[in-house]
Amino acid sequence: MYSVQEIKSNIYWVGGSDRRLALFENLFPLPNGVAYNSYLILDEKTALLDTVDRSISQQYFENIAHVLGDRQLDYLIVNHMEPDHCANIEDIVRRYPNVKLVGNKKTFQFMEQFYEMDMTSHYLEVKEGDELPLGQRTLRFYTAPMVHWPEVMVTYEISDGILFSADAFGSFGAFSGNIFADEIDEFDVGEARRYYANIVGRYGAQVQALFKKLAGLKINMICSLHGPIWRGEQISFILDLYDKWSRYDPEKKGVVLVYASMYGNTENAVQVLANKLAQRGVRDMRMYDVSKTHASYIISDLWKYSHIVFASPTYNLHLYFNMDALLKDIGVLGLKNRKVSILGNHTWASAAMKSMKEQIEAMPQMELLGEPIDLRSTLKPEREPELDKLADVIAASVKEA
Ligand code: FEO
Repeated sequence: MYSVQEIKSNIYWVGGSDRRLALFENLFPLPNGVAYNSYLILDEKTALLDTVDRSISQQYFENIAHVLGDRQLDYLIVNHMEPDHCANIEDIVRRYPNVKLVGNKKTFQFMEQFYEMDMTSHYLEVKEGDELPLGQRTLRFYTAPMVHWPEVMVTYEISDGILFSADAFGSFGAFSGNIFADEIDEFDVGEARRYYANIVGRYGAQVQALFKKLAGLKINMICSLHGPIWRGEQISFILDLYDKWSRYDPEKKGVVLVYASMYGNTENAVQVLANKLAQRGVRDMRMYDVSKTHASYIISDLWKYSHIVFASPTYNLHLYFNMDALLKDIGVLGLKNRKVSILGNHTWASAAMKSMKEQIEAMPQMELLGEPIDLRSTLKPEREPELDKLADVIAASVKEA
């Protein structure tokens, strides 16, 4: 049975949700599933914007058949060639043999890399700023390279000011019926941040470049490929957040304390430090065990807050592996503009503190705050003054940040 919603006159959401997938991109936990959005415009011509993941193909084709009725599909706009959106292109061409595939040069290069079927006769190549009239409505295309792949483009519907934004402004989370952000009860913006930081986070400069291209356009609705549709007051809300996230500006003053700990001794030192920060008036703190919480959640909060404490023991003469992996992930994502303090621990040979310090120093625009501390096995009372000093420096910095 079809399951569609009309989001504007003769524009239909024809996507769906997957609650069974455990890991997005086989990496990121999906406790609340994920939505794959696709949109179908009925005009003098018919145009479908992107397809969906293979997991919901059956629902998707029922949706399209219902909305089209006895009409043919004239265009498939391919804003993004990642398989969670392009998985059904071959099937679309088989079912609707007159369809034109609308993409840019890179789109078609990737199409040929992913597919065996020769679809060249269906290609309609567009360039920056090209327009495609559908009748009453006209679509305009803007390239958005590396938001999140190089072929990405966004499509702007001119008369109603609707931006079909590919991955940009997306979120994890399946739908529970409501597909507009303003209709979802207690929409968890943390899942939009976790999506941004982990999927698009590396490409802040490219997001800023897209913002420049879109400046001056009247945008009344943003239709992403994942997560809710943004409209009304929600538009400036999500645009403001994206502006901050892509500039690597923290949303909030606060401290994220991330520790690795085998037997609880490094954890204890972090608890003591957090306690001292609280007593110095610091609020908004988050604490994570790097072996317990998936890195994507930690990274999401690192994008949110202004200060970070990393604490880890030495393991096999290296930095404890889970902490090492987290720091490498952060380095690849290119997080910047945070104040970072370091707490190492070792029993007979020290490596963790040095490794954390070197990795942070190698990241651009990361400021080391306070003197790194290297404990020996446990926090002893004679080392407490060092923690007090570190707490003083962090608390003062949070207050001025
Ligand atoms: Fe949801 Fe970059 O694909």
